[in-house]
Amino acid sequence: MMSPMTATFDRISWPVRTARLSLRPAGPVDAEETWRYWRLAEVARWLPFAPETLEGYRAKFLQPERVAKTLVVELDGVVIGDLMLSVGDGWAQREVAEQAVGVEAEIGYVLDPSYGGQGYATEAVEALIRLCFEDLGLRRVTAGCFADNKASWRLMERIGMRREAHTLRESLHRSGEWLDGLGYALLVDEWRARCSNSSTW
Ligand SMILES: CC(C)(COP(=O)(O)OP(=O)(O)OC[C@H]1O[C@@H](n2cnc3c(N)ncnc32)[C@H](O)[C@@H]1OP(=O)(O)O)[C@@H](O)C(=O)NCCC(=O)NCCS
Repeated sequence: MMSPMTATFDRISWPVRTARLSLRPAGPVDAEETWRYWRLAEVARWLPFAPETLEGYRAKFLQPERVAKTLVVELDGVVIGDLMLSVGDGWAQREVAEQAVGVEAEIGYVLDPSYGGQGYATEAVEALIRLCFEDLGLRRVTAGCFADNKASWRLMERIGMRREAHTLRESLHRSGEWLDGLGYALLVDEWRARCSNSSTW
């Protein structure tokens, strides 16, 4: 049976191409490709899980719900990063809840650090946001990170996301420390205004 996310990805014509990159839904073969950088301590430091072995990572990567929300980013046919796209409901009062079903998405992103610092992650996430608003017709995109993950929040600000929350010591890091978190969002109207004011979109 088709999962809701498969249905979401089915609404998009793949691959999605940018000036330098290509985005497509992840498949089983991408477990090894993405493991190349997920296994690095500097990458896993801020991610929800830090796999110790390829087997453990593959099992997690291939969970149907997870792989169905994952895109890979390719540069000249080489996987250099992956993206998460999770479509969900907006908060709503019960009487109007139906109108809030599937109207927003949470996104995530990981880049192989050997390709860092060249704008590839920015380019991929810009394409992901365009896909959310143009192809899927969503009204809001959100993302979050640890406040200490400067590369992540700098990326969100670079692409025009707006900081909505700074939560104090609410996220437990595997180091044992409770750390601050940041929440960002972008509304479709804000994105459209930015598109019409900028040649980078
Ligand atoms: C978050 C992450 C994707 C950011 O990677 P990144 O390399 O900083 O991002 P980009 O590929 O967009 O590169 C941006 C950098 O390239 C520079 N750059 C060069 N050419 C550029 C271009 N054409 N467009 C945009 N930026 C460009 C930017 O100035 C920026 O450098 P700076 O931070 O020194 O100002 C990466 O650090 C990562 O994967 N971290 C581990 C996983 C993680 O934390 N994910 C997020 C969890 S919330």
